Order: sequence, then C-alpha cells, then structure tokens
Amino acid sequence: MKRAIYPGSFDPITNGHLDIISRTARLFDQVVVAVIRNPEKIPRFSLKQRVAMIKQTAAPFPNVAVESFAGLLVDYAREKKAQVIVRGLRAVSDFDYEFQMALTNRKMAPEIETFFLMTDYKYSYLSSSFVRQISHFGGDISEMVPPGVIDKLKQN
Ligand code: COA
Repeated sequence: MKRAIYPGSFDPITNGHLDIISRTARLFDQVVVAVIRNPEKIPRFSLKQRVAMIKQTAAPFPNVAVESFAGLLVDYAREKKAQVIVRGLRAVSDFDYEFQMALTNRKMAPEIETFFLMTDYKYSYLSSSFVRQISHFGGDISEMVPPGVIDKLKQN
C-alpha cells in the first residue's frame, strides 16, 4: 500500500492544489491531505474550516482523506505510515524553499521521499494569499478556486 501525504496551509484550497490532489490520487493507493497551522502565517480560515472545504472539494476522490496536524511533518508522516511527501512546484521561485525543506526532512527521516509535481501551467501564478486579496477587493476568483470556496470567501 503506497500512501502519500500532501501537506500545506490550504488557506483556502485553490484549483492549483486540487490539480495536485487529483494527480496524486492517481499515483498512490491512499492520499492524506494534511492541513497545518503554520505559526508564521496568520490564517484567514480556521483549521476546521480549511479541512471542511478540502473534504467537500476532494469528495470525488475516494482514496483521499483530509486531516489536520501539528508538529513536525516527518513525525506525522511516520505516524500515518506514509512513504512519500508530495509538494507542488509552481515556479523557480518555489525551488529554493522546497529544496531546503526536502533535504531537511530527508535528514530527519531518510526513509520518507519527497515527490515534486509540476503544477499545471494554468495555475502556476496562483497562491492562496492572492486569492484572499482578490476576493477581499471584489475581484473575480471563479477560475481560481473550487465553487464551494467562493461562497466561503464571501461569507468569511
Ligand atoms: N497551487 C496553488 N497554490 C499553491 C500550490 C499549488 N499547486 N502549491 C503551493 N501553493 C501556494 C499556497 O497557496 C501558499 O500560498 P500562500 O503563501 O499565499 O498562502 C504557498 O504556495 C505555500 O504554502 P504551502 O504549500 O501551504 O506551504 P507552507 O509553507 O504554508 O507549509 C509545510 C509547508 C506544511 C509543508 C511546512 O510548513 C511544514 O512541514 N510544517 C510542519 C513543521 C515542520 O515539519 N517543519 C520542518 C520543515 S523542514
């Protein structure tokens, strides 16, 4: 059984994240989307809200579970018996941070591999904070996030 963890803040989930989730679901037997409270970011949505939005969005994929976690990612991956951590790469600017994180995680847990998937070019410009800003100022985010998320951004 090959199990992958796809971690992130998902504040909120975007179509770019969904693209990575759907492709990861085709590659692995089980995928755990793991939502983290990143202490370096002030969240717009609570962990509970973020998990609920991803559950709704990922409902068509039966092998995808959604959870939240605190602490070190490699500890969580071990607890979940996941062999792989999946990360999406949008542009060269993501590379330094991702490279450093992958090597640090490998140092702590050599048995866990980090897999990088190139984000679809359609979503390579996307980020959750841009989506939040555009929505805040009344811009059109209909092609950036799943439909359920548009409503939540309007309400929150
Ligand atoms: N499509 C659209 N946007 C994407 C994307 C994609 N495919 N992939 C990443 N992004 C965006 C996110 O929306 C987010 O945007 P924002 O900064 O505007 O909110 C940004 O890229 C990066 O966020 P994310 O992927 O959620 O990463 P993160 O830096 O918040 O958290 C963790 C990364 C969770 C993997 C890392 O913080 C972690 O492992 N934490 C646990 C503690 C730990 O183990 N630390 C040691 C690490 S070596």
